[in-house]
Order: sequence, then C-alpha cells, then structure tokens
Amino acid sequence: MDTIAVLDFGSQYSQLIARRVREINVYCELFPYNTTPAEVLDTQPRGFVLSGGPASIYEKGAPQIPGYVLESGLPILGICYGMHALTHTLGGRVSASSEREYGHAMINVVTPNPLLGSHTQRVWMSHGDRTETPPPGFEILASSDNSPVAAIGDTKAKRYGLQFHPEVRHTPNGVEIIRAFVIDVCGCEPQWTPASIIESAIEDIRSRIGTARAIAGVSGGVDSSVAAALVHRAVGDQLTCIFVNNGLMRLGEPETVVDTFEEQLGARLIAIDATELFLDALDGVTEPEEKRRVIGEKFIRVFEEQAEKVAGDVRFLVQGTIYPDVVESSAPDRRVAARIKTHHNVGGLPPDLDFELIEPLRYLFKDEVRAVGLELGLPESIVWRQPFPGPGLGVRCLGPLTMERLDKLRAADHIVTQELHQAGMLRDETAQAFAVLLPIRSVGVMGDQRTYAETIVVRAVTTDDFMTADWARLPHDMLARISNRIVNEVAGVNRVVYDISSKPPATIEWE
Ligand code: XMP
Repeated sequence: MDTIAVLDFGSQYSQLIARRVREINVYCELFPYNTTPAEVLDTQPRGFVLSGGPASIYEKGAPQIPGYVLESGLPILGICYGMHALTHTLGGRVSASSEREYGHAMINVVTPNPLLGSHTQRVWMSHGDRTETPPPGFEILASSDNSPVAAIGDTKAKRYGLQFHPEVRHTPNGVEIIRAFVIDVCGCEPQWTPASIIESAIEDIRSRIGTARAIAGVSGGVDSSVAAALVHRAVGDQLTCIFVNNGLMRLGEPETVVDTFEEQLGARLIAIDATELFLDALDGVTEPEEKRRVIGEKFIRVFEEQAEKVAGDVRFLVQGTIYPDVVESSAPDRRVAARIKTHHNVGGLPPDLDFELIEPLRYLFKDEVRAVGLELGLPESIVWRQPFPGPGLGVRCLGPLTMERLDKLRAADHIVTQELHQAGMLRDETAQAFAVLLPIRSVGVMGDQRTYAETIVVRAVTTDDFMTADWARLPHDMLARISNRIVNEVAGVNRVVYDISSKPPATIEWE
C-alpha cells in the first residue's frame, strides 16, 4: 500500500495533515520527527510531509530534518516550520520574527507549479518566522502581501515548502494542494478505502490469532463495536463478545447491542444483565468519584467472571484503541492532552489483565472507524452514536442511583435524543445531547394539584475536540417541545432547564 510519512515537529495541526492524506484514500502515518529511521522507512513511504511546529529554526536545540529524509531522494513537502527546516538545511535563509502573521491571506502564484497551479487563492497563515531566501535550486512559487516567499519549490528534486497551512479548512483549496503532492508528485495510488482496510485488517488478525480464541468487551460504543465486528469477520466463532449491562445505559441500548451482535452479525455473545449487582453496590453512594470507582471496579469483576466461562485457549483481548489515542500519547508536546483523555476512558479494563491485545483500529481515525463499521454492516445507531461516558448514566443521574430515578432519566433522555434526531440535528449539529437528572425538588402546579418534583437539565453542546465546548443554539420551538413532552410524559419531573454554560468554565457532563 502506498504510504506517506508525516514527520511531526509539534504543530497542533499535525494530525490534520495525516487525516487529509487519508481523505484522499492514501495511507499515511504520523511520526514524531525524531523517530528512528528504521521505523519510518519500514513503512516504505513514497514521500514525506514535514509538519509545522512551535520552535524557531535558529534557536538552540531546534529540531532538524533527519538526514535519512534528504538522503532518500523522495519528494518532500515542508509546511510552515517544516519549510523553515528545509530552507535552513539546504542553504537558504529564514528570518526570525517575534511578530506572528495569523489569519487569512491571499497568495499570488508567481511560478505556475504542480501544487498550486496558477491561481490566486485564499490560505490560512499562522507563523512567526518565515523563509527569506529560498535555498539554491528552489524558486519562489507564490507570495502574499505579508510573506513575499509564501511557497517555494525545487520541481526537479520534488521538494516543496509552504508558509501557510493547507491542512486546515480555512485554506479552501488545501486538500487539492495535498492531493497534488500525494498523487501527482509522489505518485501514490488512492488505494486506502474501507474495503481495503477491512481486507488487510482481517489478514493481520487471522495471522495473529491463529487457532486460539479471543474475547471482546462490547458496550454499544463505536470503537469497541467496530473492533469486535472486525475481529468477528476475521475469526468467526473463535471470538466471544461479552456485554455487561450495568443498568446505566440509555433506553433501548442493551437491546441494540444484543440484537446487533447476536442477530445481525451472528457473533458469539455472552450478555449478562448485571443491573441489580451494580445498583446494590451503588446503594447509598452519591459522591461522583465514589460512583465512578464502584462502577469501574464492579465492571472489571463481572467481566472477568464472564471471561472465565469462555472455553478453550483464550489468549487475546480485543480493544478499540484508535489512532488519535496512539499519536497523542507519543507526540512530544501533547502528553498532557493524552493524559486527560486516558482519564476519560475509564470504565475499560486494567492494563495488567493476562491477555495479548488485539487493536485492529490502532491506525484509524474516527471517520475511518465509522466507514469501516458501516461497511461491516453495523447499524447507524451504533456507528453514529455520540460519545457516552464509561460509567454511563451513573454520571448523569446526580444523587442516589435507584432504578426509579434511572428510569426517569432514561425516559427524559429518550425524548431529548428523539426530538433532535427527528429534526436531523443529532448527528451533525450537536456533538453530544442528553438529559441530566438533578436531585433537587421544586414546587410546581399540574392541573389543580401542586407538585413537588425533580428537575431535568437538557444539555446539548457543539465541539470539535471535547476539550472546549459551546452550548448548542437549539431552536426555541424544539426546546419548548422537549420541555412539554418531558413534563407530560415523565412522572416525577415538573421542571426542565436548558444548560447554557460553555466549557470552560463548566464541563460537558454534570456529575
Ligand atoms: P467533560 O464532562 O469533562 O467531558 O467536559 C468531556 C468528554 O468526556 C466524556 N466523559 C467520559 N467518558 N468516561 C468516559 O468514557 C468518563 O468517565 C467520562 N467523563 C466524561 C464526556 O461525555 C465528554 O464527551
């Protein structure tokens, strides 16, 4: 499979470069710039992209282009810092600047070339330093008012540098620029499709598992479901899926999981309804951290018990780790973000379980995981499921976790998601939308009766990365319908409020 290697110099946009290349159906991997040459060359890249980064090329210890990249003779595209590194290494001059150019700019193509064609175009700039004089053999390809050297190229050697960021959406022609480099300059074939991903994953999984057996925990989440479905496609009944219903799932979810894996995929499934076990353990627990701890511990115990029931040589555990988890934990400057994420991925299994891991999604971005899921025949309700915390409604039901209160929350939550779904707003316009039940009673009036009942919070947010989020501007008519339906259809709720807090300072979840 034709591959592009992206060397990461620490830019916040590095992952985006890899995603854009994959969108063109070409396989691409992201490596920290100082990865060993053998590891990078092992992927047999047909070209390199050097990402941007926060450093300044003349400062002490500034990362440089590794020698093997230049020695390979393969095409190179340097973006922002990548361009400065290329300029510096090949004998051009970069000017250090303490002032940033940030935002839209128009570039004029001064030398028509394979990447930019010959058109004036809008691009996104975000840089301090800039290339002043291109290295010998390079021409100035484009310039803008603020950056006389906005793009450079040595067409014969197939080396290019861009001062702007083609990988961000703010550069409207950006994907075309990346496509020109990957397809036309590097000569890659667009072979990376969901079908080819599945085919190569299956081969891989079969050769690892051999005749042994594997287990997979499924929870209804996108990643664990797609991972399990993929392994099932590869080894059939050698895989046993285990589903623990902890009683903290949303309305209809346990049924969807069972129906999907048992009926539709025909997979071996152990489904255990552990609702009572969990609720007994949670009896009297109201403190959020304690709830998480109890739910996490119980899950591991129940899962282990069920895993022991699987007969034969069970050596493998399937996990739905995806590419952003992998690159975030290896990138030099993004360790902190990765730690925050791991914390949120609790509800999984401890790393010291005695299994070898099978992680078939390890190299896939979320959109690729979804495409693979659809290709494998998983239903849209799973493939497009919004993120849902491991401790489930345990996080969203404040106060005591009783069956009665959880059912109340499930009913209200169902109304929220149903209304958004019917309006076509669940998938694309909100990243997460759900109900929260507060242990606060207030006075209301219904018919001739005074009521004293609990409150439902409707929470709907927009966000790209879940690190920051804004509240979704849902239409007032829709909020009115949701509120009416909840108080009319859900006994024990007399008040509905809409959460208009952004993150920060609030969080997405309440707990
Ligand atoms: P917050 O509430 O911190 O949430 O703004 C950010 C994202 O993380 C999800 N989340 C969790 N996911 N286990 C998970 O698997 C958890 O304990 C957990 N807590 C929060 C939350 O739904 C949102 O997408």
